[in-house]
Amino acid sequence: MNVCSVVGARPQFVKAAVVSRELREVGEEVLVHTGQHYDEELSDVFFDELEIPEPEYNLGVESDTHGRQTAAMIAELEPILEETQPDVLLLYGDTNSTLAGAVIGSKRDVAVAHVEAGLRSYNREMPEEINRILTDHASDVCFAPSKAAVENLADEGITDGVYWTGDVMYDMILEARTRAHDRSGILDDLDLTPGEFVLATVHRASNTDDRSNLESILKGLASSPLPVVFPAHPRTIARLEEYELWNRATDELELVEPQGYLDFVRLLDAAERVATDSGGVQKEAFFLETPCVTLRKETEWTETVECGWNELVGPDEGQIREALDRERGTHSTPQPYGDGVASLRIVGLLQQAFDDDSSPDVEPLPNNLTD
Ligand code: UD1
Ligand code: UDP
Repeated sequence: MNVCSVVGARPQFVKAAVVSRELREVGEEVLVHTGQHYDEELSDVFFDELEIPEPEYNLGVESDTHGRQTAAMIAELEPILEETQPDVLLLYGDTNSTLAGAVIGSKRDVAVAHVEAGLRSYNREMPEEINRILTDHASDVCFAPSKAAVENLADEGITDGVYWTGDVMYDMILEARTRAHDRSGILDDLDLTPGEFVLATVHRASNTDDRSNLESILKGLASSPLPVVFPAHPRTIARLEEYELWNRATDELELVEPQGYLDFVRLLDAAERVATDSGGVQKEAFFLETPCVTLRKETEWTETVECGWNELVGPDEGQIREALDRERGTHSTPQPYGDGVASLRIVGLLQQAFDDDSSPDVEPLPNNLTD
């Protein structure tokens, strides 16, 4: 089996790390980095810490408008597919790198497989929602992290090639939690005591590219009874400067660089709670049992809200203040995102579908809900 995997942004490095490791045990992988994220702390640090193999291709596309960025990736991916002739193109999540892969894979008649398929926020103003919908509809195989994701796909008529595999970020966090605890010195470096700080991240277009939303989030975070550690995405830093909110942010919050994965997981594990608009961080908070305040009005990870670990507040100063002030209650801990072996299952299913001798080394645990 010859798999071409496409990654480009921070959360995709985390997701691909576990799958790539399993994949290379049983087949061949050509790893393509689109270059969507290129800063050392958004890219290289993940390859080093998570021991992701050096990409065979780096397209070096970097930042641009959605159209130009996605088009450049498509143009660069096409000759790689011609050259490498993969059995399957493996895509992750919902970024422009994902969409570019879906477009060119389906146009070039390469089988497309999508990890983290079926998620929906039902907010089409999010660029990620458009990327998810288009990618799922262009995919031959959809690996869904939750039952709800399988149902979302079925609602859109996508039932063939859909598998409930569990979530690959859960696989990763299970091993990262202990490694982070043993190896990370971030709490000492930032002089933090477990349970006595709030962690915050903000990078969504709707929050960063709208001055009043960003200001409202800053005010809400600043009202926290505990100190707030804020590893800021470069996009957010650029907007804080542009909107002249930089001084307020640095006066009232502990603004730090984007963190490497292990330091970030350590912070998330030790935080009293987290305030974020990230998809991955909402989920990781749930896995680590850190209560989450989500700075959005809707989420794809609905199970985290239903079981009480996550609260949706949007970019609303008052609601953020109230949510950060509230006592943390006791919550149930169901496991809607599988059993920590999603990556094994995904690779087993790929083997079944694309290996000629079709004798997977790992048990595929078929759980296609639509069978
Ligand atoms: C992208 C994804 C988003 C994902 C996020 C993960 C899309 C449409 N968005 O958002 O779904 O949640 O990654 O972090 O694909 N920049 C740098 N250095 C970098 C990368 C970006 O400075 O290495 C700055 C540039 O000013 C750039 C801006 O960040 O214009 C936005 O980068 P981009 O990749 O377009 O989107 P993200 O906000 O990172
Ligand atoms: N992350 C990290 N350092 C940070 C912020 C996030 O390592 O400073 C990790 C986080 O643990 C998660 C992933 O990056 O695995 C989430 O990426 P992001 O929030 O950028 O994107 P999203 O998940 O919203 O697409």
